[in-house]
Amino acid sequence: MKQILRGKEILPATNKLGVLITGIGSVTTTLMAGVFAARKGLARPLGSVTQIGKIQLGKRDKNHYVPIKEFVPLTSLDDIVFGGWDIYPDSAYKAAIKANVLKSEHIDIVKSDLEKIKPMTAVFNKNYVKNLNGKHIKKGNNNMDLAEQLMVDIDTFKKENNIDRLVMCWAGSTEAYVQTSKVHYSLKEFEEGLKNNNPAISPSQIYAYAALKKKIPYVNGAPHLTTDCPALMELANKNKVAVCGKDFKTGQTLIKSILAPGLNARLLGVSGWFSTNILGNRDGEVLDDPESFKSKELSKLGVLDSILNPDVYPELYKDLYHKIRINYYPPRGDNKESWDNIDIFGWMDYPMQIKINFLCRDSILAAPVLLDLILFTDLAQRANMYGILDWLSFYFKSPVTEEGLYPENDLFAQRDKMENTLRYLMKEKLK
Ligand SMILES: NC(=O)c1ccc[n+]([C@@H]2O[C@H](COP(=O)([O-])OP(=O)(O)OC[C@H]3O[C@@H](n4cnc5c(N)ncnc54)[C@H](O)[C@@H]3O)[C@@H](O)[C@H]2O)c1
Repeated sequence: MKQILRGKEILPATNKLGVLITGIGSVTTTLMAGVFAARKGLARPLGSVTQIGKIQLGKRDKNHYVPIKEFVPLTSLDDIVFGGWDIYPDSAYKAAIKANVLKSEHIDIVKSDLEKIKPMTAVFNKNYVKNLNGKHIKKGNNNMDLAEQLMVDIDTFKKENNIDRLVMCWAGSTEAYVQTSKVHYSLKEFEEGLKNNNPAISPSQIYAYAALKKKIPYVNGAPHLTTDCPALMELANKNKVAVCGKDFKTGQTLIKSILAPGLNARLLGVSGWFSTNILGNRDGEVLDDPESFKSKELSKLGVLDSILNPDVYPELYKDLYHKIRINYYPPRGDNKESWDNIDIFGWMDYPMQIKINFLCRDSILAAPVLLDLILFTDLAQRANMYGILDWLSFYFKSPVTEEGLYPENDLFAQRDKMENTLRYLMKEKLK
């Protein structure tokens, strides 16, 4: 699993960029509505590094900040064409109303744009997402046949919209946790497994296979494994395709990766970090199933270890007890509320406590993350960077990294790495 930085020659972002998203739910429709509204000058794309971020260039002797979208050749919001798949046939308009993230007045200003986006039939397996019952699903002889049907969808979408460049993303429900097994160890075994309907291959892996076969970069916004298995990385490297994941970093984990580096920098010990959430959207309903929750739990748990580094500071962090709970609570919808109790200790081992109560809006935090991932992944692909895009860890709860490396979870270290990659691409001095 090697990330290969091949060069700084970047193909221009000409014509349109197709964005095919699996799962036209809360995050996706919030992204789409915001992009359409921003295009019309009716909303601000706040939280998006590609849209409003600035990068410092040169020496620190003067304030020399340049807008990122002028510094690197990104696709303009006007040139994005959305499409996707869902197990329900609702248009993006209807799905946005159901998701209940945005107020109806903010959905209605882009109603005609959203209504045009009708999901294609999905590849779905109830064993992987138990709490959903959609019927807008493909039928096929075997999983290879389903992958081929997805490839036909991709070709049709390209032709109908006159597109030559695409990015594919997973913003579908969290699948049940599966460990990699023999069928994931090589591309040959994986392709055999598709033909034999091997139960260890998940729907998200069928989508990813279709994308990588078509040389389309792939973004995984959910915590399940998908491309982080040798078989699909073999295909990504063979076809020189960029991939990144996993699990959008929003909400409680975002706050963790902001706060923990500070505690670590001041050498304050942490004996316990208890995190609990209530949320009532469809994602919360899916996570009510213990197998889907297991994928999420693993993705969230890794964050503190890599930031606090108990191997380097055992006296501060070796006994840290980290507990995470997610509770499905329908009245809250997408407006998640999280509570953190952090037990810390300092000088002469005196204990202290920090309490955080974050009333966040999950999809409002996730939409700019997905937008940046789409635009930066497309940039990377045009710059011939392929394999794992480790420099996009900034956006993920559980960043996929090259074999042998531990993931970087400190938000500030992640931002430095991302900015330096942009400087590298544009032949600017690194910081
Ligand atoms: N909202 C956030 O802040 C956030 C943060 C991190 C990760 N995520 C992840 O992003 C994903 C999307 O979150 P959301 O809040 O939009 O969820 P959601 O439930 O609103 O939307 C998910 C959509 O995916 C569809 N779907 C499920 N399986 C599918 C399949 N096989 N093919 C096609 N469509 C399928 C569902 O029908 C649903 O419409 C989830 O996996 C979630 O864990 C979200």
